[in-house]
Amino acid sequence: QARFATAAFPPRLNSVAAQDLAHFAKILPPSSILSTLPPISSSPDELDQFNNDWMGRFRGSSTTVLKPKTTQQVSEILKWCNERRIGVVPQGGNTGLVGGSVPVKDELILSLSNLNKVREFDPVSGILVADAGCILQNLTDYVAPHNHIMPIDLGAKGSCQIGGNVATNAGGLRLLRYGSLHGTVLGLEVVLPDGTVLDQLTTLRKDNTGYDIKQLFIGAEGTLGIITGVSILTPPAPQASNNVILALPSFQNVLPLYQTVKRELSEILSAFEFIDRTSYDLAVKHGQGRALSDEEIEGAECFVLVETSGCKREHDEEKLAALLENLLESDNPLINTGVLSQNPAQFSSLWALREGVTEAVSKEGKPYKYDISVPLSSFKEVVDKTREHLRSKGLLHEKAVKHVLGYGHVGDGNLHLNIVADSYLSEIQNALEPYIYEVVSSYRGSISAEHGIGYQKTHALHYSKDAVSIALMKKIKNVFDPNGIMNPCKDNQPIRMHIHPS
Ligand code: FAD
Ligand code: MLT
Ligand code: ZN
Repeated sequence: QARFATAAFPPRLNSVAAQDLAHFAKILPPSSILSTLPPISSSPDELDQFNNDWMGRFRGSSTTVLKPKTTQQVSEILKWCNERRIGVVPQGGNTGLVGGSVPVKDELILSLSNLNKVREFDPVSGILVADAGCILQNLTDYVAPHNHIMPIDLGAKGSCQIGGNVATNAGGLRLLRYGSLHGTVLGLEVVLPDGTVLDQLTTLRKDNTGYDIKQLFIGAEGTLGIITGVSILTPPAPQASNNVILALPSFQNVLPLYQTVKRELSEILSAFEFIDRTSYDLAVKHGQGRALSDEEIEGAECFVLVETSGCKREHDEEKLAALLENLLESDNPLINTGVLSQNPAQFSSLWALREGVTEAVSKEGKPYKYDISVPLSSFKEVVDKTREHLRSKGLLHEKAVKHVLGYGHVGDGNLHLNIVADSYLSEIQNALEPYIYEVVSSYRGSISAEHGIGYQKTHALHYSKDAVSIALMKKIKNVFDPNGIMNPCKDNQPIRMHIHPS
């Protein structure tokens, strides 16, 4: 997930001006151009949703949003911006969690939301070709009648776009079963910064003809070009899906539980997700999913959500029931209790407890989000260490940090460490960084497991990448985008974004 512009921003980049708007008006109809500049003069409120990120943490001050409908229009816009040295921020559903999808200053925002058609679907191979601006949930609904599912699923599915998913190499809830987008994406159509259209929209499963260039755009977060089309392999829908939430007396049990669950469920295991007690309490407090009874949660330090996906309901249910029985009846039980969903509504409701943590955290306060890869055995240690560190700095109280919590994708070794504060304060920020990055680095972990680098982590890339890798990233960036117009300032320049005062 490379992120290094060679150009220092902003000196070499220009703001959008009247002559640019006049040119864009030749490419797009008036309804596809928003600008606070005359002669368009949209109200700043109309641009607010594009300038602010999902968390309300990062804010840009773009004057202009363009919403092309075709690849050709994207190409013409980029060609112009490249010639005029105007910075461009590609924006999908704007659900990114690292400040990559909003401008740092007044870069032009190119929204993909009007590029939203399914191009083709082959029900035999399961290969779907779609415009990058298609919303993930819409694609899920599109393939469902053909008995297929998308290989990726995440809490933001109702807003995020497939192009944004690919640009961030989003992981999500199905990675354990279907692998990463580096495997399931078969082809891409990308508009390069100079307007050239790179057509690698192949539907081939196998193609060993030289470098696999499309892989560079998967996880490049809009720094190398704009993805306009995606060809992706969709798996057949499982005939039966079940889930169960397990309450554990101690975090120490998570690892042995994971081993047991993998062994007993083997090929039908499709998710193994973790939430600690604070995450559970916040999810329930903010109305996410079905609360368990007091008896069910008594003495629970954390919870694990297990999902199975298979092709024979009775077989899967039998396996799951046997697993639960073994777990509960063992001499030294790994779990206190397990709550099995009995119908589709309960199935969704159990998932909501896990998927809803992100939203719950945002309702509770201002989240500082750290999406890290560390050894599974140290998940709890990292959360506890961070809490103690904040306490030692006198920052753990109602007016500063309210909660430190952990949840995530155990099966992928990915912990979401969240610190929820009353407001965004530099004191908290300085206490957290570089502290957390140093902890991650001490485990040889990753400072970004799945959310990307965005604006938030550009200065911290060296904690996870060596100098040789970073130098190569810079060279690659320079090959694709020598003028540094693509998603500028998402690099290691010491420029801080505007952070909301409250
Ligand atoms: P945006 O937020 O609009 O953009 C993200 C980045 O991609 C930006 O740098 C942007 O410039 C670039 N970009 C967007 N579209 C394009 C394009 N067409 N071409 C080139 N660059 C582009 N992430 C996970 O990995 N796993 C999760 O489980 C997960 N769960 C989430 C749950 C919630 C509730 C929320 C709010 C977010 C979650 N995320 C998760 C983060 C986020 O949803 C993903 O990163 C998502 O893939 C972003 O898609 P988007 O369309 O919203 O992209
Ligand atoms: C998740 O797994 O819920 C997402 O990555 C979002 C988050 O980290 O909050
Ligand atoms: Zn996640």
